Amino acid sequence: MMKNKRAKVHRNDPCPCGSGLKYKKCCFHKESSLPQNNKQKLYLQKHGIRIKKARDIEGIKKAGRLALQTLDLVEASIQVGITTDDINTLVHDYTVKNGATPAPLGYRGFPKSVCVSINEVICHGIPGGRILKDGDIVNVDVTPILGGYYADVNKSFFVGTPGSNAKKIVDVARECLRKGLMMVRPGNRIGDIGFAIQAFAEKEGCSVVREFVGHGVGFDFHEPPQVPHHGHCGEGIELIPGMVFTIEPMINLGKKDLRVLDDGWTAVTLDGNLSAQFEQTILVTNQGYESLTPFPLK
Ligand code: MF3
Ligand code: CO
Ligand code: CO
Repeated sequence: MMKNKRAKVHRNDPCPCGSGLKYKKCCFHKESSLPQNNKQKLYLQKHGIRIKKARDIEGIKKAGRLALQTLDLVEASIQVGITTDDINTLVHDYTVKNGATPAPLGYRGFPKSVCVSINEVICHGIPGGRILKDGDIVNVDVTPILGGYYADVNKSFFVGTPGSNAKKIVDVARECLRKGLMMVRPGNRIGDIGFAIQAFAEKEGCSVVREFVGHGVGFDFHEPPQVPHHGHCGEGIELIPGMVFTIEPMINLGKKDLRVLDDGWTAVTLDGNLSAQFEQTILVTNQGYESLTPFPLK
């Protein structure tokens, strides 16, 4: 399985968060402020964060591999004229056929097995009769439960030939995930991730959705901590090895504001402009990170 290596940033390089400062003066936090023993117990008691052991990581990786295979299958089937319900059927049947359960189905009343979000839909689109048309952006967010473990991953795809706005927002969203990943290493903080994402998105004239965040994952669909996609360097809890969480920036071409439709789920941009998203499930390692749902971000 392919493994995403952390891009090496040296102490004297410009900080990847985009501040213009040297990395060592900004997001590089070399000293841990935590006592070296019992960090894991502390994180459980203080933050409700369940640190993953080697066998848990193997389990999440297996679920992650299935999730990526599911997305590959979806990508191959995407074409003008199919409905979002067709994607749901594909995801549901493939998940079950592989001995897993689709986590979205019945989750807090969500009625389908996958979220499918087109164009101005930011996230949590409910599959139904909407037909994919040429130039659409379609985000597909899959979360299988395999052997009791959850992996959460999504990608944005083009239907047919994208216009320049669609290309722009998908490129920015993908790069935002990469910028966030680059900040993941022990000693860095949750806020470093959001800051790097926000700095890049706003430099590109885009905006970051605030209402939905990344999250701990693995034993359950949504665990602590929350991982905002905006924020400040040095804020929030310190990252420690064995933490597993998603980074899943939702990036809007226009303003950041959203509204949720009467179905109680579908989040759309208030100004009707395009939105895009990419998500991976990430393990904090001693060196930096390993993606448990790796795919190329270039
Ligand atoms: N997969 C989404 C996430 O990334 C959550 C979807 S909740 C559902 O957190 F109920 F809509 F499936
Ligand atoms: Co998620
Ligand atoms: Co997801």
